[in-house]
Amino acid sequence: MIGIFDSGLGGLTVVREIQRQMPGYPVVYLGDTARMPYGNKSPRAVAEFAVQDARFLMAQGAKVIVIACNTASAVAHDAVRRAVKVPVFEVVSPAVRAAAAITAGRIGVIGTRATIGSGVYEKRLKIAAPKAKVFGQACPLFVPLVEEGWLDQPETLAIAKRYLLPLKLRKIDALILGCTHYPFLKPIVQRAIGPNTRLVDPARETVATLKRYLESKPALLKELHAAGRRGVRDRYFVSDVTPNYRLLASRWLGRDIRLKETHLPCS
Ligand code: DGL
Repeated sequence: MIGIFDSGLGGLTVVREIQRQMPGYPVVYLGDTARMPYGNKSPRAVAEFAVQDARFLMAQGAKVIVIACNTASAVAHDAVRRAVKVPVFEVVSPAVRAAAAITAGRIGVIGTRATIGSGVYEKRLKIAAPKAKVFGQACPLFVPLVEEGWLDQPETLAIAKRYLLPLKLRKIDALILGCTHYPFLKPIVQRAIGPNTRLVDPARETVATLKRYLESKPALLKELHAAGRRGVRDRYFVSDVTPNYRLLASRWLGRDIRLKETHLPCS
């Protein structure tokens, strides 16, 4: 199974992409809803939680792990890699590569406070696109707006315009949507930033990277695919379940899914 974890349910954007780009490969998903948000926590706390999340997925039989959470990708990738013995993917590097392929000019990055504060996108873009100018902007209100389902309300557009104004004034060529939830706001973000800026969706780029990697590992690919053929089903776990989480999960994946509650950390 492909194991995917996030601080909450936003990582379902990665599951959606797996189902779009690699249908037939079962996933096991963990949303650490009890400890969400990660975006306002310290790197130490996020790393500790991320390692526990990855270990849980390993215990469920994951053969590869995707850190869907931008915050955890930014501050906990190394800790997770050290903690588990399977390949670990994160969402920052694929987004950086995609942005660098679009432009060597001006690149904006939006994310949680922790992601922007980590400076990880700037550091990696300096290597991938050394001439590029990078501008970061935290957009902490976007996550609650998406969770509230306010994807196209005038208030959301007003907030997006306010957050994105400094980036718009910089005339950025590409904008990385550096948070699990932001792909849901693509239309509004595009309107707020204007038509000359291309949006980079880390979920889409990460799954494309994962797919290429698996295609270069036929034995692993076959094993994952065989699980699908044997009828192994997708499984979705959360560390706290509420009626609203059930609603969001089904709405975001576009079909009814069953969320199973689990308690972390697991031994
Ligand atoms: N999943 C987080 C991210 O992508 C957003 C929600 C949170 O702060 O936990 O950064």
